[in-house]
Amino acid sequence: MESLINRPIRDVLTAEAHEAFSTHLRRRARIYGRADEVTLDLRDVRGRAIPVLGSLAEKRSASGKHLFTRLTVFKAAKRMAYETGLLEARRNAEAKIRAEQETARMRDQFIAVLAHDLRNPLNAVLAGTDLLKQGRAMAARERAIIAGMESTVTRAATLIEDVLDFARGRLGDGMRLTLNRDRSLSDLLRQVVEEIQVAHSDREIITNLGIIHPIVCDAERIAQLASNLIANAVAHGAGDGAVVVDARTSSKYFVLTVTNDGGPIPDEVRQRLFQPFVRGGASNGRDRRGLGLGLYIVNEIARAHGGKMAVSCSEGTTSFTFTMPRLGTPS
Ligand SMILES: Nc1ncnc2c1ncn2[C@@H]1O[C@H](COP(=O)(O)OP(=O)(O)O)[C@@H](O)[C@H]1O
Ligand SMILES: [Mg+2]
Repeated sequence: MESLINRPIRDVLTAEAHEAFSTHLRRRARIYGRADEVTLDLRDVRGRAIPVLGSLAEKRSASGKHLFTRLTVFKAAKRMAYETGLLEARRNAEAKIRAEQETARMRDQFIAVLAHDLRNPLNAVLAGTDLLKQGRAMAARERAIIAGMESTVTRAATLIEDVLDFARGRLGDGMRLTLNRDRSLSDLLRQVVEEIQVAHSDREIITNLGIIHPIVCDAERIAQLASNLIANAVAHGAGDGAVVVDARTSSKYFVLTVTNDGGPIPDEVRQRLFQPFVRGGASNGRDRRGLGLGLYIVNEIARAHGGKMAVSCSEGTTSFTFTMPRLGTPS
């Protein structure tokens, strides 16, 4: 930079820079009094360009006479390096995000394929236990073993269905609904309660159904939602109180509420309940927790129907409520 001292402006600017300086920069300075942070190239004694940022300011007397023009320059190398550095860092970060998204997608795809393909062997085992049950008279021990196998495999199949629903949701297909008005939701809900009641004969499940208006929904999915909520009430609620299932329509809405006894769900769990893989502690001493996907799927079914889920805990009871517009605008 020393080599620039005491040299006329014309000599220290490259030809292009001098042209810019003497035409529009000067004009800007004359009109606005200054021109800020323009990129220019200075020329050292050997003619090499030194990139700088220049600011131009004009000083005039009260009568408007031009007194002097001050050009302040900063070496731009550092700033440019900084800016290129930023750009490069951003490009790297973007590439990293893309790679991570791709990996995540592959992982979801892998989960979906695995879950999907596991269904067949499990169904084969269930078909086998069915056949065995139909066969010759069995000793109590054999019958118990078969019943045990059946319930274990059914449980595995349910977990796999949940994983499949989760993976499908993540892969962007979302929750696909088959809408119809004809399927009797009341019948399906009764069936759901019946199935859970058979598996938990020691528990009291009270059902109040008041579905008197037609509902546009995917009845199978609503039954799945109810099944998840009731299974949770049985698994996570206090063991002694009844589970109450209430489903009714009003002129505009369909509302399903499942209530059970038991201490309140801790705040930190309650806030994240509907996110995937969230599980609370085994509150009633029986560890019946699943993968923590149940309520996530419940919420996806609710959203797909244009509805929503709510949870409330008060006076020793916990209620999960699903509300949807009866003739909804499913998203
Ligand atoms: N009716 C309920 N009463 C108390 N806690 C519940 C109830 N339903 C769900 N929870 C809590 O929410 C968690 C998440 O539920 P869910 O998504 O169905 O997962 P999972 O049943 O597989 O653990 C449960 O682990 C439990 O701690
Ligand atoms: Mg559950």
